[in-house]
Amino acid sequence: MKILRRVAGLAALSLVLSGCASSPSFLDPASLISDHQAALYRDILVESGLIFVVVIAALVWSLIRDRDRAGSKGLAPQVYGKLSWVAIPVLMIVLLDGADFAWMTQTMRAIAAPAPAAQDINVHVIGHRWWWEFDYTDLGIKTANELHLPVGATVQITLDSVDVIHSFWVPQLTGKTDAIPGQTNHMWLTADSPGLFTGQCTEFCGVEHAMMRIHAVVDTQAGFSAWVANQQKAAREPLTVSQRFGHQIVTSVCATCHSLDPAEPQPKVGPNLAHLFSRSTFAGATYDLNEENLRSWLQDTQAMKPGNGMDLKLSSYQIHDLLAYLTTLK
Ligand code: CUA
Repeated sequence: MKILRRVAGLAALSLVLSGCASSPSFLDPASLISDHQAALYRDILVESGLIFVVVIAALVWSLIRDRDRAGSKGLAPQVYGKLSWVAIPVLMIVLLDGADFAWMTQTMRAIAAPAPAAQDINVHVIGHRWWWEFDYTDLGIKTANELHLPVGATVQITLDSVDVIHSFWVPQLTGKTDAIPGQTNHMWLTADSPGLFTGQCTEFCGVEHAMMRIHAVVDTQAGFSAWVANQQKAAREPLTVSQRFGHQIVTSVCATCHSLDPAEPQPKVGPNLAHLFSRSTFAGATYDLNEENLRSWLQDTQAMKPGNGMDLKLSSYQIHDLLAYLTTLK
């Protein structure tokens, strides 16, 4: 009875925990791939659940029927050498595994990559410690951490890493694929509906692994075109004196690691800044992007994200001017 209580306790706990978990979950799918993955998961969960209930019911029934009661004589009847006791379980396993195999191959066929077409969006996704670079190779746009895509379009993704192995996962849109240095991987996705879908690096890649997040923004077709048009524009010119000083710091100090050119012909080690403030987050989609957070970041990046590649000592005047310019980069 003690063990039953424990099992009941664990079951209750897992129910409570699953109640806490909200999206991002692939069980709340928003793409063709996740639709199929969620359906496969549910089919196999129902099947395993039924088997679990039948097996546990038989076990409990025999435990109660054959328990050691006052007056019972030794062991319950033991069964040996009956062919049916071997044949039935073997048959069940063959049938159930056959069904699972069929479901799985059907799902794998359904989510196999479509042949590249002219209207596809091509994105080169590059893992960095600890942020994601998104290079729209046909559009001349480089951005970071926020992947924009139009609803319904096929997005062909090639994945690489510049340092260690990362793994790209936006559960509501697609399965996981590793970003491996020296090995280009491919994946694809098609989103069903506009919205913001969050993801996460899912391969331990160092101290800030947990702070290597992804925001996938699914736009309407018109919204995506507007986003592309804005991203392709050159970075704003500085207007005020403060902005001019800020621009100078960006092009002298920050330029070692960051580019102000949206196409970024020379790859840089840090995120592209041309349209920094068109994004809603920074530092691996860890912090909301606003003047206050960016000021704290410029004052002490290591306090906000220990171990990240940026460690500058800037004066309060420099930070003031930098903010004056950077916040115009919509
Ligand atoms: Cu990148 Cu974990």
